[in-house]
Amino acid sequence: MLKIETEAATTLDVAWARAQFPSLLQTVNGHPAAFLDGPGGTQVPQRVIDAISGYLKQSNANTGGAYATSRRTDSMIAESRMAMADFLGCDSDEILFGPNMTTLTYALSRSIGRELGPSDEIVLTHLDHDADISPWHALEERGARIRFVDINEADCTLDMTDLVRNVTEHTRLLSIGYAANAVGTINQVKKVIRIGHDRGAMVFVDAVHYGPHGLIDVRELDCDFLACSTYKFFGPHMGVLYGKREHLKRLQPYKVRANTDAIPNRWEWGTLNHECIAGVGACVDYLADLGRHADASASHRRDALRAAYKAIQSYERGLAERMIRGLNQIPGLKLYGIADLTRLSERCPTFAVRISGHTPLELATKLGERGFFTWDGNYYALNLTERLGIESTGGFLRIGLVHYNTAEEVDRVVAALKEIVG
Ligand SMILES: Cc1ncc(COP(=O)(O)O)c(C=O)c1O
Repeated sequence: MLKIETEAATTLDVAWARAQFPSLLQTVNGHPAAFLDGPGGTQVPQRVIDAISGYLKQSNANTGGAYATSRRTDSMIAESRMAMADFLGCDSDEILFGPNMTTLTYALSRSIGRELGPSDEIVLTHLDHDADISPWHALEERGARIRFVDINEADCTLDMTDLVRNVTEHTRLLSIGYAANAVGTINQVKKVIRIGHDRGAMVFVDAVHYGPHGLIDVRELDCDFLACSTYKFFGPHMGVLYGKREHLKRLQPYKVRANTDAIPNRWEWGTLNHECIAGVGACVDYLADLGRHADASASHRRDALRAAYKAIQSYERGLAERMIRGLNQIPGLKLYGIADLTRLSERCPTFAVRISGHTPLELATKLGERGFFTWDGNYYALNLTERLGIESTGGFLRIGLVHYNTAEEVDRVVAALKEIVG
């Protein structure tokens, strides 16, 4: 019943997927919990839980020791690094692990800051999460000039004319979100990267919001850096940064002397979160299995991930259409971002709304009591809520879908909103 057929041999088996996630069985006040908070963090499949606890039971040690648990730790980290390399389409020495995207981005910005001079410029956008703004903005103290690309207010897409105007021969770095965590817009990242490179700039991509929704291919994009957070795509709370090998070797990170100058070690300081790294490998393997479940011919992990995202995108577009049709029936509701049903490939199923006469916090609270987990506020997309003039009145209510959500949950949250607003 929950299967949605697509044109090719990629079918998302939602019942199979949901059965992997034990937390989805929770209830709230007698209502089944509906996890519509994916953009803030997704649930994890059982195998991720098992990998984390299994590591702590059997392999818990620091790295580089001449004994069994330490050797197991070393090989587990190498395995998870390879899994992330398959996930992003690069080599494993281009993968850096860290506590979260924000911390990794600050570390990179400090290092890039060492190379900046007074006439250098950095280009950012108003659509982005603050973790893709403040670490770069901080480079003003190195003399860099910061420029911002505006949005098209009507559909919360990037104003590409303004982008072209702002990227000049002075631009050293252009940073852009792959997708907007507040309103779901998927940016024309490949085109933006080409514009940046044509002017001689490096391009950083914040793929945190895109990660659960689409296949990432850093080689195809040709980005210089790309960051994501595994807790947004069914893994543990950690961040991952891809950097082109040439940059990771050339840039000078601030590091302790005991770290070697080899990549990735020169960028990964102190003891990493080993148990979560074990979970990262398991979450990539979950997605690969989802792909094999959709397309049995996909055997190599990267092919299986491609199949997974093909099935996920097709399924999520069905949910998005249903959600937009449902939200349109709610009196006084304004949906921010792309609402045109013929443009669903340009957005993630992340819906930011306001309903007149109700604050986002009131709506999120009332939905929460009925078992719907949604978010209110700005989700750190502070430039956007300020640009849209809604920061002082509570931001948006955000309803975020991922592939473990169902059409039935969409119908139920729409019905609950109707009931709440009367
Ligand atoms: C688009 C986007 N970028 C960056 C971040 C920050 O990620 P992290 O929590 O891993 O630092 C988030 C977190 O919500 C996000 O949604």
